[in-house]
Amino acid sequence: MGDLDGKRAIVTGGATLIGATIVAAMVREGATVVLADIDEEAGRREASRLDPERVVFRHVDVTADDQLDQLVDETVTRLGGIDVLVNGAATYLDNALETTREDWLRALDVNLVSGALLTARVAPHMAAAGGGAVVNLASISGKRAQPLFYVYSATKAAILGVTRNEALKLSDRGVRVNSVSPGWIWSNPIQEMTGGDRAMADGVGEHLFLTGRIGDPEEVAEAVVFLASDRASFITGTDLAVDGGYTAIGPEQMGQPLRPLLE
Ligand SMILES: NC(=O)c1ccc[n+]([C@@H]2O[C@H](COP(=O)([O-])OP(=O)(O)OC[C@H]3O[C@@H](n4cnc5c(N)ncnc54)[C@H](O)[C@@H]3O)[C@@H](O)[C@H]2O)c1
Repeated sequence: MGDLDGKRAIVTGGATLIGATIVAAMVREGATVVLADIDEEAGRREASRLDPERVVFRHVDVTADDQLDQLVDETVTRLGGIDVLVNGAATYLDNALETTREDWLRALDVNLVSGALLTARVAPHMAAAGGGAVVNLASISGKRAQPLFYVYSATKAAILGVTRNEALKLSDRGVRVNSVSPGWIWSNPIQEMTGGDRAMADGVGEHLFLTGRIGDPEEVAEAVVFLASDRASFITGTDLAVDGGYTAIGPEQMGQPLRPLLE
């Protein structure tokens, strides 16, 4: 018996390492998944690694309403309903203070608005199935100011707020809505940033996380699967930090500024 036995799910942003790992974990726990992403090549590749009976790739641009409609319709036709939605599609489009209005709106569209619109579209189907669960991918970047992010942070902070409001609005339909906020995860962007050097990434992680390392995609997937499952039946409107303690501690976390005082 898996935690998601018989559940029918959509995962957006499923073509990248974190998303594909979430899809794989959901399938392992018994779910059937529609992996939706704008990246056709990676999406097909990741889906083909898994059981074709349990995962199907759909090319979807989450910012296009007609494509969201089609995604929901096709999922219901193919799987008979929808029980779980994971909103993971995201962009890091961000030029800090120089960001144009167009890019601000694009980033908000991909990261925030599209997930909210897809949630609204799947909610009636979840209600028809007796309830469901939505998991939104947020981030530590939505909780703290960071030198590398500005626009992205705002989109992720907004996801935390939208998650609470979705939980409120959808409670009478039996739909739970939560978010997961990862810290630095061994992911496509971090691999690009470090040239694939995990030791380098963990070296940074040593200074940021109480775990002394960055996180693994499986550790994000565990949290998503839990929140999507009936084991989280009394959990809604909240955020699960998968961040190695990043948000539990302050700037003096690793003792550097205090060291002279402590010695
Ligand atoms: N990498 C990390 O350390 C980290 C930390 C915290 C949160 N997250 C979150 O995890 C999720 C995955 O992030 P990642 O770092 O792997 O990034 P990524 O850029 O590798 O993945 C984003 C995915 O979204 C897809 N996507 C982008 N625009 C889309 C669109 N318009 N329609 C459909 N799909 C679209 C991309 O093709 C890609 O597969 C994101 O929600 C991100 O905010 C990541």
